[in-house]
Amino acid sequence: MNDFVYDIPVRVYFGRDQLKNLGPELKKYGTRVLMTYGGGSIKRMGLYDRVMKEMKDAGLEVYELNGIEPNPRIDSVRRGAQMCKDHKIDVLLAVGGGSTIDATKFMAAGACVDFDPWDFMDYSKQAPIERALPIVTILTLAATGSEMDSGGVISNPETKDKNGRLAPALLPKASFLDPTNTFTVSPYQTACGAADMLSHICEVYFNMNQDLFMLDCFMEGLMKTIVRYAPIAMKDPENYEARANLMWTSSWAINGFIDGGKRQAWSCHPMEHELSAIYDITHGLGLAILTPRWMEYCLDETTVSKYVQYGVNVFGIDPSLPAMDIARKAIAKTSEFLFDTLGLKRTLPEVGIDETHFAVMARKSVGGGTLPGFKPLQAHDVENIFKMCME
Ligand code: NZQ
Ligand code: ZN
Repeated sequence: MNDFVYDIPVRVYFGRDQLKNLGPELKKYGTRVLMTYGGGSIKRMGLYDRVMKEMKDAGLEVYELNGIEPNPRIDSVRRGAQMCKDHKIDVLLAVGGGSTIDATKFMAAGACVDFDPWDFMDYSKQAPIERALPIVTILTLAATGSEMDSGGVISNPETKDKNGRLAPALLPKASFLDPTNTFTVSPYQTACGAADMLSHICEVYFNMNQDLFMLDCFMEGLMKTIVRYAPIAMKDPENYEARANLMWTSSWAINGFIDGGKRQAWSCHPMEHELSAIYDITHGLGLAILTPRWMEYCLDETTVSKYVQYGVNVFGIDPSLPAMDIARKAIAKTSEFLFDTLGLKRTLPEVGIDETHFAVMARKSVGGGTLPGFKPLQAHDVENIFKMCME
């Protein structure tokens, strides 16, 4: 087990009646606020008016940037960074899902430098992120965990890249997590969010290094929570208990707690980012298609014990069965959950993806070398996994 540092300094306001704390929280950082949001869901659900009222009552000067795309684009980041400079913004308020929050993180960093914010994301440059303006978030979709982590992912349609970056300066100062703000999330986006959270946990859980038993139990609890509550939230969108469980799980799946000491590279995420970079598909959908195939590809005598643990503890498979049988049943249960229970599409052709770019995407996802994840993957392995997703 490796040494690790536990440090998650994001203040979380969780629950129905927390917005009254928004004004005081923002005022800690100044009076000039840039509020960012996506394509309008926050207006349709009435959240926009409530947030505006809180800020007005607190005497804040508010500027707005809207239209942040799902799979947010670098142009939105550029626009936001420039607005921060032009209006001498003190603090950014992101209201939305992972896309809005991710884009806002790089606006906040871009506001503090003179170069193009794509330089943060360009893997050949990796411009340092030393500072960012303070960020506060109001989460409206339980999925990415961006509300409580220091990362973000930005697309560049010109170069067909979708790149991620982590930096402590990007951590939100505070996040408002009101499950009622997710009541309007569609069954499809709820399903994609569930698939994303599940993948965040699998990327860490499937690991053959010596682990903290306590963290494995915690992850199994998170996975069981997703399996239990995602279908309820899809059928009964205003079920507070289901929405609250999913929302808090999304944050804990990626806020740094579960990977204490593990330090293993992720596998499905780099593969998925190539799919959404070129085809602009929903991140959670791409992960749902890839995950069971990746599990299948990595299963062998050296890894089977992890699948047994997963199958028995998350899906309640009979532990007395032979190990390989449990492993195969665990993969089948994962597929059943993603494709039958959540109703997500099962193959790449169903979402309009063919083999045309497989070789390039595979090469890019391993960064020209090897993905040192659960089972080390080279470009040809990734290409094989993409091919397994064809049927
Ligand atoms: O744009 P609006 O109108 O707000 O609509 C959004 C969007 O169309 C809608 N939506 C959000 N909240 C809603 C709602 N609709 C109705 N009611 C609500 N309450 O949902 C659609 C998708 O929103 P988006 O923010 O794109 O979804 P998500 O939260 O899944 O974010 C996905 C992005 O996050 C990145 C992904 O790659 C992708 O670009 N990720 C970020 C991570 C991170 N920061 O750590 C990790 C993840 O692995 C992921 O890569
Ligand atoms: Zn993800």
